[in-house]
Amino acid sequence: MAERETWTSRIGFIFAAVGSAVGLGNIWSFPFQTAANGGAAFLVVYLLAVFLIGFPTMMVEFVIGRRGESNPVAAFEKLGYGNWSFTGGLGVFSSLVTLSFYSVVGGWVLSYIAGSVTGGYFGDAGAYFGSVASGPVAIGAHLVFMAITIGIVASGVTDGIERATKVMIPAILVLLVGLAAWATTLEGATAGYEYYLSPDFGVIASNFGSIVPPAMGQAFFTLSLGFSVMIAYSSYLGRDDSLPADGGAIVVVNTLVALLAGFVVFPILFATGGAEGAGGGAGTAFIALAGAFGNLPAGGVIGFVFFAVLLFAALSSSISLLEVPVSYVTENYGVGRRTTALAMGAAIAVIGLPATFGTTWLDFYNDVVFNLLLPISVFLLAIFVGWVADREAIDELGRGSSIGSSFTTAWLWWVRIVVPTVVLMTLWLGLETLYE
Ligand code: PHE
Ligand code: NA
Repeated sequence: MAERETWTSRIGFIFAAVGSAVGLGNIWSFPFQTAANGGAAFLVVYLLAVFLIGFPTMMVEFVIGRRGESNPVAAFEKLGYGNWSFTGGLGVFSSLVTLSFYSVVGGWVLSYIAGSVTGGYFGDAGAYFGSVASGPVAIGAHLVFMAITIGIVASGVTDGIERATKVMIPAILVLLVGLAAWATTLEGATAGYEYYLSPDFGVIASNFGSIVPPAMGQAFFTLSLGFSVMIAYSSYLGRDDSLPADGGAIVVVNTLVALLAGFVVFPILFATGGAEGAGGGAGTAFIALAGAFGNLPAGGVIGFVFFAVLLFAALSSSISLLEVPVSYVTENYGVGRRTTALAMGAAIAVIGLPATFGTTWLDFYNDVVFNLLLPISVFLLAIFVGWVADREAIDELGRGSSIGSSFTTAWLWWVRIVVPTVVLMTLWLGLETLYE
């Protein structure tokens, strides 16, 4: 069997993992989830979820991945617990499902880039969304987005994924900073910042049950946790890199990008009306933003840049979602990477087709992943590392880093008790919303 690829450098891994983390979740869902859930109150809960639950969970996936040094299913066997392989398999399954609808939204982004050039959404933003979000245009754009994703993954871990993310991540950062700076000049920007940044703790207290599940779900999703992605990516990592340091960098950059996106989106929304109408399902964000671009001076240029950022973010994530099943099939069945990427990609494209028929399907896929697959997956991972894996595996956390064994032990207890408890609570509250 061919030798396994590894990242060419530590920074290569960080770029790729940041690329996976930074996605539609940061620039599209985050600002609009925040708007839908009461602004800054949601932001506070979300940040707590990211740092207190998300970061320790990322370490869980890194430990399994680097120690397992293989695809997310075989990793559990390599650790000596083959009967836990289904946990990795669940992540592979979630990746498949998620990519299938993520790519449909990626297709929308392509249509909005086109619409920025042609002025398609300037007149009636709602009608434009209607014409590109479902039907033949949506199918075509979804297939184009999948084709690009397949092309990058087929080129391999270093030549494809690492190289692509090394271009896309800096571009995202530079363009977003530029957009945020431009947004400060808008009339109404102040009202936008205020809504975004002044938490109303009364809102948190009285809406606890409805804020926590989306905030937790968003925290896992935004960090690409529970999909076996971070298991797969850290399996290509060298033995002497520090897992906590790399993970810390990834979490911080991912959070900065989300916060920056808020500094772009809120001034724009408030310059042209306010955050009302921005909550709600998958499409409202596109309609609200495109409508705003249509009413701003040079809106086409700004829209083009914004949607280009969104495209880079979506692609750097979609390649990680495809890498998970591809690494599994190539390693387990010895099929070539190119063939596998094409076949898996085609299958995923087909699974995504229902989501091009209307946002009901898309919202359904999204709800199942957020409220069900994600929490179950993270719960199992925490139980595995917390209670099943031996101490030798646990000590992988400190390898190549200067953290002491007391840090590892503190993390272990956090993963044993706090993470599963919080996740179970979220699962419960989330299922309530799903079935209400
Ligand atoms: N983290 C990505 C985002 O925020 C989504 C994603 C989830 C990517 C899981 C890969 C795996 O958009
Ligand atoms: Na993210």
